[in-house]
Amino acid sequence: MAGSLLDGRAALITGAASGIGAATALVFARHGAKVVVADINEEGGRRTVAEVEAIGGEAAFVRADVRRSGEVRDMVAFTVERFGRLDCAVNNAGVDTAGDGRFHEVSEESFDASFEVNLKGVWWCMKHELAQMVAQCSGSIVNVASVAGLVGIEAPFVSPYIAAKHGVVGLTKAAALEYATSGIRVNAVCPGAVRTQMVDDLIEQGIMTLEQTAAYHPVGRYANPPEIGEAIAWLSSDAASFVTGLPMAVDGAMTAR
Ligand SMILES: NC(=O)c1ccc[n+]([C@@H]2O[C@H](COP(=O)([O-])OP(=O)(O)OC[C@H]3O[C@@H](n4cnc5c(N)ncnc54)[C@H](O)[C@@H]3O)[C@@H](O)[C@H]2O)c1
Repeated sequence: MAGSLLDGRAALITGAASGIGAATALVFARHGAKVVVADINEEGGRRTVAEVEAIGGEAAFVRADVRRSGEVRDMVAFTVERFGRLDCAVNNAGVDTAGDGRFHEVSEESFDASFEVNLKGVWWCMKHELAQMVAQCSGSIVNVASVAGLVGIEAPFVSPYIAAKHGVVGLTKAAALEYATSGIRVNAVCPGAVRTQMVDDLIEQGIMTLEQTAAYHPVGRYANPPEIGEAIAWLSSDAASFVTGLPMAVDGAMTAR
């Protein structure tokens, strides 16, 4: 399909069955990329593939749990088998494990559940993606962190998430430096609140309201998922060829305060 930024690129997006990941798959397809949609949610993943195909794009689904090294390795291999290489990897799969209490009340299970997906899952993905990208001598990785990877958030319940997302920014910077001369760029996006299932869950649990969430952002609203996808697409493209090691806030000036 007629694209621009990502014409012909082979992309892999984790957590692409819903929310930011699904929107990013569509944005990537509009920019000309071929997309592997990875998720543990098969039904949602196949729906994203159908949506990409409906706009004339090319996509394929692979079931992969980012907590399992073997599944992540196979997910990368699937991308290479299907599209010949791995140009752009977007490590977006994440969970909100809020609802467990204030800092001193958070359980070990809740802490581990957050870290297993939000931090170690990103680490597994980067490890297997980088192995492929080193072999190709090229590639771009964008990790989906959060404003919670840049600053604390004045809300109870979310300390493990904040710690994990700061860790994602750390992995991003470390890898950007290690692979700076290998033709591989590694960046992160740090979204403010985005209207997805994750935010709806937090609202349902009484942890935030839509009004409060909008008020956190100087622009007076939360983001729509494609607005995050467009930032990821730009970072993944040659237009950002001198950008690496950047945790890019996409937050309506929330962290500019
Ligand atoms: N929504 C927000 O306000 C917001 C803000 C900042 C950052 N983020 C981050 O954006 C990313 C996407 O979140 P979203 O809001 O679109 O949430 P979402 O719940 O709509 O999507 C997350 C996706 O990840 C998948 N997933 C969960 N665990 C997985 C695993 N172990 N292996 C593979 N896939 C798994 C889910 O099935 C789901 O499809 C997350 O990393 C989240 O932390 C979200």
